[in-house]
Amino acid sequence: MDSELARVYEAVTQAVCPEDVFGVLTGPDEGEALAAVFRQMARGCHPDRFNGDPEARELAQEAFQKLNDMRERAERKLARKTYGEREAPSDDAPASGFTEIETAKHRYRISTTPLAEGDLCYVFRGTVAGGEGDPARIVVKVAKEPADNDLVRNEIRVLTRLWLDLGSGSKHLPVLLDQFKTEGKQALVLREIDAHDIPTILEKYPAGIDPAHVGWILHRLLSVLGFAHSKGIVHCNVEPAHVMVRPRDHNVFLIDWSYAAVEPARTGEGFRTVNELYSPPEAAERKPPVPASDLYSAAKCMVELLGGNPETGTVPPSVPDRLKRYLDFMLITAPRMRAQDAWEMHRELSQLRQDVFGHRGFIELPM
Ligand SMILES: Nc1ncnc2c1ncn2[C@@H]1O[C@H](COP(=O)(O)OP(=O)(O)OP(=O)(O)O)[C@@H](O)[C@H]1O
Ligand SMILES: [Mg+2]
Repeated sequence: MDSELARVYEAVTQAVCPEDVFGVLTGPDEGEALAAVFRQMARGCHPDRFNGDPEARELAQEAFQKLNDMRERAERKLARKTYGEREAPSDDAPASGFTEIETAKHRYRISTTPLAEGDLCYVFRGTVAGGEGDPARIVVKVAKEPADNDLVRNEIRVLTRLWLDLGSGSKHLPVLLDQFKTEGKQALVLREIDAHDIPTILEKYPAGIDPAHVGWILHRLLSVLGFAHSKGIVHCNVEPAHVMVRPRDHNVFLIDWSYAAVEPARTGEGFRTVNELYSPPEAAERKPPVPASDLYSAAKCMVELLGGNPETGTVPPSVPDRLKRYLDFMLITAPRMRAQDAWEMHRELSQLRQDVFGHRGFIELPM
């Protein structure tokens, strides 16, 4: 990946306020200083520079948009003469029912009521003190007991690896901002993802969603799986609560990497959990995880999203036959007979979507 693009992408991805991006503005005219830093960074990530490289271009578009958003925030602060002030609490920080945690990087205001509770972790919403608006919104995932620290540490390890080099999958990954320990319990800080997990979508659409939507959702999911697999990482726990869908720009995020295995064939790392409905048969059989394991679980999630039965893999009769057969290939019991390669399935799905759904442009999924 282009190093200048990577630098800008990382800066805007990790920033919680404009000062994190543009730094101290010196000289007689702060506005001019801001414009100069902005111009240099904008050159680094201008999408037109990457016309021949769709993967880089997509990342550049995202970085460019975030950079422009941060410039607007910086200009507003300059106009109010508050640029450089980080101490003010964020606009939407909770007024009560929160606790404060300070790390070497940031001070957080964290709600004391969990947003979600898993088997081993609580997830809380919060904000970064001195941050601004959306970029300041975070979630904190904390082990319930010190005995569960290992899994949180594993998620930190895996996310760090996934973020080592940028790629087409990066925009589908949670952003790790920080980590800390509280009362002996390991915690990690992620950017809040403004999206809906599949169970939330199914609450609104109990009979399932239009197969054309499943088409783009699975396409994004295969993209992040292809990216992770190319780095030797198997997620090992793809299930509906771990797939977050953002209808406004058709982005999809694969979250909860606590159970992921790194290079399982070489390291011997295995499945750390078995999900009765979504895990592939090899998980319960304590066989090694393979990329095909994630494809199986991804297909089960899509069956459910189509209004089908994830236990049996059956889908409603209205689902186009070709999509059904495509999913059946990912659901074969024997891992070696099953679809193996997320990128290959990604390519095949492009063709399938074109043939079956045609060019329908941006289709809205109201939430
Ligand atoms: N970055 C995020 N932004 C917004 N919501 C999130 C984010 N991360 C997690 N969530 C929400 O919290 C839920 C639980 O998250 P996650 O699966 O990571 O933790 P967990 O299941 O509690 O952990 P564990 O399974 O290890 O006990 C998700 O289904 C999602 O709805
Ligand atoms: Mg989870």
